Amino acid sequence: VVQFVDVGNVRAWIGETGVEAILQGMIGYLESDFLRWKLFDKTPRVASHSNHGVIELMPTSDGTTYGFKYVNGHPINTKRGLQTVTAFGVLSDVDSGYPVFVSEMTILTALRTAATSAMAAKVLAPAQAETMAMIGTGSQSEFQALAFRSALGINRLRVWDTDPEAMTKLVHNIGDLGFHIDVAANAQDALDGAEIITTCTADKTNATILRSDMVRDGTHINAIGGDCPGKTELDAALLQRGNVFVEYTEQTRIEGEIQQMEPDFAVTELWEVLNGTANGRSSPDELTIFDSVGFAIEDFSALRFLRDGVADTSFYTDLDLIADPQDPKDLFSLLPSDAMCDAGI
Ligand SMILES: NC(=O)c1ccc[n+]([C@@H]2O[C@H](COP(=O)([O-])OP(=O)(O)OC[C@H]3O[C@@H](n4cnc5c(N)ncnc54)[C@H](O)[C@@H]3O)[C@@H](O)[C@H]2O)c1
Repeated sequence: VVQFVDVGNVRAWIGETGVEAILQGMIGYLESDFLRWKLFDKTPRVASHSNHGVIELMPTSDGTTYGFKYVNGHPINTKRGLQTVTAFGVLSDVDSGYPVFVSEMTILTALRTAATSAMAAKVLAPAQAETMAMIGTGSQSEFQALAFRSALGINRLRVWDTDPEAMTKLVHNIGDLGFHIDVAANAQDALDGAEIITTCTADKTNATILRSDMVRDGTHINAIGGDCPGKTELDAALLQRGNVFVEYTEQTRIEGEIQQMEPDFAVTELWEVLNGTANGRSSPDELTIFDSVGFAIEDFSALRFLRDGVADTSFYTDLDLIADPQDPKDLFSLLPSDAMCDAGI
């Protein structure tokens, strides 16, 4: 039987568990999977590009469980009443090859992206950071804010978005949750006093959300919006100045900010920092950049966390997904007895 978690059940599970508790739990699952990084099958995601966006498949396996996510990225979508990013995902049993778990992943992706950003910031952001600038206040933004508060205690936000309604929405959604939120007049204004900068804009172009001269030494940049060929947020001079951390180099060279750099541009993979073989932040003046694109292992961790979270609850249903004849060689037996009538038999 395949367990299925639909949107309603994900919402109910979050309602019962609490979003910050979920973010913290998910960070734990992510850290444990990043620590067994070498075990996983890894491949850059399979992307199908079109004029307005991309549809991607993101597979991985730890040898026992296989997982993949289907996700789209269409920045134009919000102009037509649709979301930029939607997703669903699957876990399967490697031994039999049978799928065992299917879930919505639009909400789950926002949670896992925020949890991954916070996991990175724990080892890269300056100690005692208090203020985060957020450029782009669309779907991902509130999740990012909550994850940074949960993991790093950030409760001052300075927000900027070219769409004033998106900023009003953020203030409406999380303004009463104990954050101190300043709505900035422009991107530069948003950076004032911020030790951490999150860029989460959506535009299918090589944008310059941050120029090098806008950013002080010692800042941590959490860049999540540049995640596709031809879709970046940071000035190349900023990348040159900072130390860049990535999820999976092979994929990030295609999709991340570093697509602007030479193929041998030096980066550090986050799993190496987590397991202590590479340095995270090593001085207060260091400019650290997490060039996030989103990697399959993060979705695997999120699905695993959800599967364990809903086990023995009513937050999933059984999905009749796999045709299962009594005699495994007799698939035909599942056809209705009148199936041959149209053929006149
Ligand atoms: N790295 C990852 O793992 C990951 C995961 C999910 C989404 N993403 C990416 O993150 C980005 C944000 O996703 P979302 O779901 O929040 O999108 P969204 O469309 O809901 O929000 C994006 C916001 O950016 C704003 N914006 C666009 N250009 C801007 C600019 N120049 N300055 C300031 N604001 C600007 C828009 O007005 C909008 O409010 C997308 O590019 C998406 O592809 C990355």
